[in-house]
Amino acid sequence: MSRLIVISNRVQVPRSDDEGAQGGLATALFAALRKQKGIWFGWSGETSDSKELHFETNAGVTTATIDLSEQEVEEYYNGYANRTLWPLFHYRLDMAEHERDYQGGYRRVNEIVGDTIKAHLRSDDLVWVHDYHLIPQGEILRARGVRNKIGFFLHIPWPPMRLLTALPQHRQLVETLFAYDVVGFQTEEWLDSFHDYVLNHLGATIDGDEITYKGRTIRAIACPIGIDTTEFVEALSSDEAISTYKRMVESSAGRDLIVGVDRLDYSKGLQERFTGYERFLNTHGERAAKVYLLQIAPPTREAVQSYRDIRMALNAQSGLINGAYADIDWVPIRYVNRGMSRSTLGGIYRAARIGLITPLRDGMNLVAKEYVAAQDPDDPGVLILSQFAGAAEQLKEALLVNPYSADDLSEAIERALRMPRDERIARWKPMFECIKSQDVNWWLARFIDHMNARPASS
Ligand code: G6P
Repeated sequence: MSRLIVISNRVQVPRSDDEGAQGGLATALFAALRKQKGIWFGWSGETSDSKELHFETNAGVTTATIDLSEQEVEEYYNGYANRTLWPLFHYRLDMAEHERDYQGGYRRVNEIVGDTIKAHLRSDDLVWVHDYHLIPQGEILRARGVRNKIGFFLHIPWPPMRLLTALPQHRQLVETLFAYDVVGFQTEEWLDSFHDYVLNHLGATIDGDEITYKGRTIRAIACPIGIDTTEFVEALSSDEAISTYKRMVESSAGRDLIVGVDRLDYSKGLQERFTGYERFLNTHGERAAKVYLLQIAPPTREAVQSYRDIRMALNAQSGLINGAYADIDWVPIRYVNRGMSRSTLGGIYRAARIGLITPLRDGMNLVAKEYVAAQDPDDPGVLILSQFAGAAEQLKEALLVNPYSADDLSEAIERALRMPRDERIARWKPMFECIKSQDVNWWLARFIDHMNARPASS
């Protein structure tokens, strides 16, 4: 069996005590890396001028990380990845910054990663590159003579053609994807946008899954990532999940809990969500005082100004809403700026009457799937989901909303609160079936099967 080599910006190191705390994707990759005796490469998250590779083996998984210099972090991670590609790929053309230095730093870091990894590759290794930080990695490895099968998976949306053409050098970036054997997207919608670009902008030919351009044929697929549903459901019986559930029920004092959990990112639609919730408070007087919103939003990428701005804006907005509507024994929004373990989140989801997941644009959104997994099959809560989250392609029985419309959000909250038990069960069941059959292990096996099925590069 070939070794599996995973390359991603961030690398997780397994902790033998509680692997489940580290997320479904990491757990599934650990299992594959153990089975296929692979290595997970990436940035250590540290800054230094050393380019030494640090190997570590924990719980049977080998990770290899390098540090980046301050300038590299600024240009590659804070710059091109998170000030240019992230906003553009999330349809925020207005927020995308285009600086040659960012683009240069992105290329340089990708070359450093390629040079470092090349020295450790064996000829039959299966190489799997992840996400927007490393789009040109396949081409960089090919330029260094690597003939292995190489796959790429994009965890975020792929933008429509006309948006993408606002990126300077968009053509060069997209052309690098033709160095891979398999390119995976989260949804049919992102795959369609990719098809549109390669067909109409590059003049490539498409035949089913296969795309041919300048004599190279790649396979481009939609392969939605899932959660580790079995593990997540099992974790609901942990002491932590049970005690959190009880704590939530007690502190709710008979009120219905509405929950949102998101990284503090402008793509998550938190301002629009608060506005929609305020519309509900404003228009449903009596009913409104019987609910509260718990919004968990750990800050991220704080070196980037737009993330500092959204944090300030949400502090102000939640403060204004609470100031205007709170009573001596009720606060309409509990706003918490820190992350929580997945068992704790499981307990919170289980106690929540509504999961309010309304990103303006999201590659997939695994919180929506975790919320479904955590529900009591006999008395499930209601998932309110943005029509613009990748997960909406699979979770069609959710209450799908337009996250930009405060009226839509307010009406969906009202409808969810009134929804009879048999309708809640009828909606929840097919969603649970879906996340159980198309879980993270299904996703991983499917992508690797596609890579194995490709002919060896000549
Ligand atoms: C998204 C991206 C991931 C990224 C994660 C956290 O889910 O697709 O690649 O790791 O956000 O962002 P961060 O910048 O903290 O790694």
